[in-house]
Amino acid sequence: MTISVGDRLPEASFMTMTADGPNKLSTADVFAGKTVALFAVPGAFTPTCSASHLPGYVQHADALREKGVDDIICISVNDAFVMTAWGIDQNVEGRVRMVAEGSALFAKTTGLELDLTERGLGMRSQRFSMIVENGVVKDIATEDPPTAEATGAEAMLDKIAAA
Ligand code: BEZ
Repeated sequence: MTISVGDRLPEASFMTMTADGPNKLSTADVFAGKTVALFAVPGAFTPTCSASHLPGYVQHADALREKGVDDIICISVNDAFVMTAWGIDQNVEGRVRMVAEGSALFAKTTGLELDLTERGLGMRSQRFSMIVENGVVKDIATEDPPTAEATGAEAMLDKIAAA
């Protein structure tokens, strides 16, 4: 079953990069006590994700923070090394936090997995966005490749403004 508005995010483990290498974080580490703009992409460095999805959140990071968002987090079924390299390539520093979930456990336990085996990518995450308050889903949007509009930063800003 797919996670929906009002549900609490499941326990999962995420990886971020530190000066000492990849560091494991729990769901609580990432989401407790914060309003988080979370978005997921099917793959780091893939065309739509690099050309519009991630850049949109970089561009609108200040506007999202002005609306009360504490953290903007990009997750993907990639490892922390790849997510870090993609973040450097996209100049996300201080705007979007790059978080890896290389085993797709979060995608699977939220029902948001995407099987891209036929395209050579294996099990990935659907493209989605969520507004998460203290670990609880307040809004969710998903969309199929190749578009990144319903789950993009502008759509999220519109929803926050209307709330
Ligand atoms: C993309 O451009 O977003 C994309 C391309 C191939 C596989 C998945 C996503």
